[in-house]
Amino acid sequence: MEYIYFEGRFVPEDEAKISIKTNSFHYGTAVFEGIRAYYDRETDKMYALFFKEHYERLFQNMRVLNMEIKESIDQLVEITKELVKKNNIKSDIYIRPIVYFSDTAIGPKLLDYNAKIAIYTYPLGDYIDVNSGIKAIVSSWTRLNDNMIPPRLKVAGAYVNSAFAKTEAILAGADEAIVLNKNGYVSEGSAENIYIVRNKKLITPPVSDDILEGITRWAVMQIAKDLGYEVEERSITRTELYVADEVFFCGTGAQVSPVVEIDNKKIGDGTPGEITKQIQKIYFDAVRGKIDKYKDWVSPIE
Ligand SMILES: Cc1ncc(COP(=O)(O)O)c(C=O)c1O
Repeated sequence: MEYIYFEGRFVPEDEAKISIKTNSFHYGTAVFEGIRAYYDRETDKMYALFFKEHYERLFQNMRVLNMEIKESIDQLVEITKELVKKNNIKSDIYIRPIVYFSDTAIGPKLLDYNAKIAIYTYPLGDYIDVNSGIKAIVSSWTRLNDNMIPPRLKVAGAYVNSAFAKTEAILAGADEAIVLNKNGYVSEGSAENIYIVRNKKLITPPVSDDILEGITRWAVMQIAKDLGYEVEERSITRTELYVADEVFFCGTGAQVSPVVEIDNKKIGDGTPGEITKQIQKIYFDAVRGKIDKYKDWVSPIE
C-alpha cells in the first residue's frame, strides 16, 4: 500500500482525494515541486537531492500566490523523509509536493482561500534520455513572461504552455521542445533548463529571460566552475543553438541530458558532447552522495 501525505496526515493512496469543485483545479493556481531521491545500492541508502532548496522555492512560490500552510520548511523535509520510509522505497523516485486552494468556491483569485499541501512519491528512472542524446525542436509556442504567469513559479497553470510545446515536439518526431521568450531569446525546455557550450565556455539564459530558476541549473554551474570552465549567463538566440559545440538540458527530472539535434540540424558532430558527458558523470555521482565536495546537496534518509 502506498501512503500519501495529504492535508496534514499520512493516508493510503485511495483516501487522498480532493473534490471536483476544488478551486485550484479549475484555475491552475496550484504550486508544486519536483524532487528526486536516489537509491544507492552500495550503501543501501536513499539520498534526497536538494530537499531544503526545493521546499524553499515552494515557499517563495506560495508567497507570490498568497498561500500559507501550517507546515514549515523544516517540518516538510521531515514529513517527506517519513513518507519515503513509510513507503519502504528502495529505488530512484520523484517526489511531488503540491500546494493548492482546497476551497470549493467558484472564482479565480488569490485571496481568502485555504491552502493545503499533499506530497506523493513515484518511481522514476530517466525522464528523458541521458545516454545517446535527444532531438529537440524550437517550438512555435512563446514562453510566458513574468507579467502573465511568471515562469519563475512552478505554478500548475503555466504548464499548459509547456504541454503545447512538448506536444508539438512529439508530433514533429522529436523528444523535447525549446521555447523562445517574447523577445525571441531562448528560455528553456518544456520542463528543464538549457545550456550551450561554445569554445569550452558554458552559456545559459539569465533568470530574466523567462526561465524557472532551476536548482539543477545552479548545480551544473557549480560543477562546471569547479572543473575550471567559464560559465556565462546571457541571452541566447535561436541560431546560436545551431552553431553551438554542445547543447544539454538539465533539471531534476531531466538530470543532465545531451541534445544532439535541433530542428533537424546536428549539434557538433551529432553525438553527446565531451563537456556535457564530463559534467553529467559528476552530477550522477554527486546525487548519490559519492562526492565529498557536494555532500551537502543530498540528505541520506536513514
Ligand atoms: C519549466 C522548468 N524549467 C526548469 C526545470 C528544472 O528545474 P529544477 O532543476 O529546479 O528541477 C523544471 C523542472 O522542475 C521545469 O519544470
